[in-house]
Amino acid sequence: MLHLTSIPDTRAHRQTISAPVALVPTMGALHDGHLRLIEEGCRLADEVWVSIFVNPTQFGPNEDFSRYPRPIEDDLAKCASAGATVVFNPTPEAMYPPGALDTQVDVPAISGAFEGENRPGHFHGVCRVCLKLFNICRPTFACFGQKDYQQLRIIEALVADLNLPIAIQRVPTVREPDGLAMSSRNRYLDDAQRRHALGLSKALDLARHLIETEGEPDPAAVEQAMRDTIAAHHLAPDYAAIRHPDTLAPLAMIDRPVVALVAGRLGSVRLLDNALIGG
Ligand code: PAF
Repeated sequence: MLHLTSIPDTRAHRQTISAPVALVPTMGALHDGHLRLIEEGCRLADEVWVSIFVNPTQFGPNEDFSRYPRPIEDDLAKCASAGATVVFNPTPEAMYPPGALDTQVDVPAISGAFEGENRPGHFHGVCRVCLKLFNICRPTFACFGQKDYQQLRIIEALVADLNLPIAIQRVPTVREPDGLAMSSRNRYLDDAQRRHALGLSKALDLARHLIETEGEPDPAAVEQAMRDTIAAHHLAPDYAAIRHPDTLAPLAMIDRPVVALVAGRLGSVRLLDNALIGG
C-alpha cells in the first residue's frame, strides 16, 4: 500500500494507473463502517484509494475540529489489511494553501435543512473537499456511507449536476450489535451517554414499525413519536423528520418510500442516524 501526502505525487501516481479506481473519502479514525466502505471499494475495483483528511472547512468555529481523533498509524494499518492500494493523506496546508480563495460549491435545494441548518457552512466544506478529492484522485467509483444520508444525497446530486464521470456507490450503515450506528464520534460518549445514544436507532425502529406494520399515513404523527423516543433517552433532539428520500422535501402523506432522519445531542456530542423505510 502506498502512503501519499503530496498532491503532485498523488496526481503523478494516478497517471500511471489505467485500471478503474474506487475512492473511499474519510476523515480517519476508521471503524468498521469505514472498513465496510473499503470492502465495497475492493468489490468494485482493484485499485482502492482511501483519503484520510480531517477537513477544516466543514467544521464550524465551535465544533470538534481540533479534538477530532487522528490515529494515523492505526488507520494506515487498517487500510492495509482491508486491501487499500493507496492512502492519500494530505496536510491542511496542501489542500488549502495560503491565499486560496474560498470557492463555494453548493446544492442548495437539499443542503439547507437538517445538518445544513444545524451546522452552517458544513456542506460548503464537504462539497468543496469532495470535489477537490475527486479532481486529485480521479476515481471511477466513490463509496459513501448511508449513515450521513443528507451528505450522500448532496454528493450524488453534485456528481449528477456537474457531469462528473464518477459512479457514487451507496454503502449501508454498519451498526453495533445493539443498533447504534457506527461513528467516529461514538468514542466521545461515556457509559451513560452510550446507553442514551440508542434513542436514535430506537426512534427509527419505531418509525419503521408505525409505517410498515401499522400503516400510519401521517408524517407528523411519526415525527412526534420519534421525537418522544429520542427525548425519553435523554437526548436533546435536533430533528426527527420523515422526508422524500431523493429531495428531502416534506410529504403531506406517507404513500411512498420515505427516509426518516434523526439527530440529537448528548452533552457536547452530536449524533445522527437515518433509515430508508417502506422501500
Ligand atoms: O463523511 C465524511 O467523513 C466527510 O464528510 C468526507 C466525505 C470524508 C468529507 O470530508
